[in-house]
Amino acid sequence: MHADVEQSSWRNQIFQEDALQGFARIPDGSIDLLIADPPYGLGKDYGNDSDKMAMAEYLAWTEKWIDAALPKLKPHGSLYIFLTWRYSPEIFVMLKQRMIMLNEIIWDRRVPSMGGGTRRYSSVHDTVGFFSLGKDHYFNLDAIRIPYDAETKKARSRSIFVGAKWLELGYNPKDVWSVSRLHREHRERADHPTQKPLEIVERMIKASCPPGGVVLDPFMGSGTTAVAAQRCGRSFVGFELNPTYCALIQQRLAQHEAPDNARSVLSLE
Ligand SMILES: C[S@@+](CC[C@H](N)C(=O)[O-])C[C@H]1O[C@@H](n2cnc3c(N)ncnc32)[C@H](O)[C@@H]1O
Repeated sequence: MHADVEQSSWRNQIFQEDALQGFARIPDGSIDLLIADPPYGLGKDYGNDSDKMAMAEYLAWTEKWIDAALPKLKPHGSLYIFLTWRYSPEIFVMLKQRMIMLNEIIWDRRVPSMGGGTRRYSSVHDTVGFFSLGKDHYFNLDAIRIPYDAETKKARSRSIFVGAKWLELGYNPKDVWSVSRLHREHRERADHPTQKPLEIVERMIKASCPPGGVVLDPFMGSGTTAVAAQRCGRSFVGFELNPTYCALIQQRLAQHEAPDNARSVLSLE
């Protein structure tokens, strides 16, 4: 088959199917970045039973999809995986046997203080693992730097700081990302129980997928990764079991216009 024809059969497509079957559509070594937001093993309702597995079954399933997904990555490729504290220890151990762990990112969902349990602390974060296949993974820090505010720049106005690259370009984002979850009234909000903010996924893509590269998301949900990739000028491919979510993804892709690089990252802290 001609290379272009082969590419167009899976690039920029969302397939309504089980990711475990779908991976076979994608040639090995063709993906720049894997963003996975799998069911958490917490019993969420995605219109299917995918989040209703008991612990042993859930962990065995996780290992299976990880082993099917990783060969799809290019040698410079990397993985972000959204998890909760419940299973991140086990899954990080699995991944550390196969990849290099670069960060544990804490997504502070900025949940307002109210009520909660009385025998332990309220959990308000997601645990995101960032892993690479090798030491020479792609990472474009300049694409995601956070500009210093005027006050900080002024405080660094002494001659030794003048012309300092880091002061002009901004600082390296830290590993705690404080971004509001998409509450019911949020303008981005779609009808999906665990939709992730574009702001977060766009940062991952700008940092870890070269322009024009391809992002694979095996568990598309409402399609945040596809929309973010489209907005950032990257290709995407992914899977989703629920046909209603697949329709939602097409709707979101049609709605969101192309790149708006200025917006997404600057408000992240
Ligand atoms: C945590 S959600 C993803 C949310 C997504 N990141 C977003 O921002 O909307 C997980 C999704 O994976 C889907 N799913 C579960 N098991 C799957 C499988 N084996 N293959 C494909 N999709 C699956 C579920 O239906 C659910 O929509």
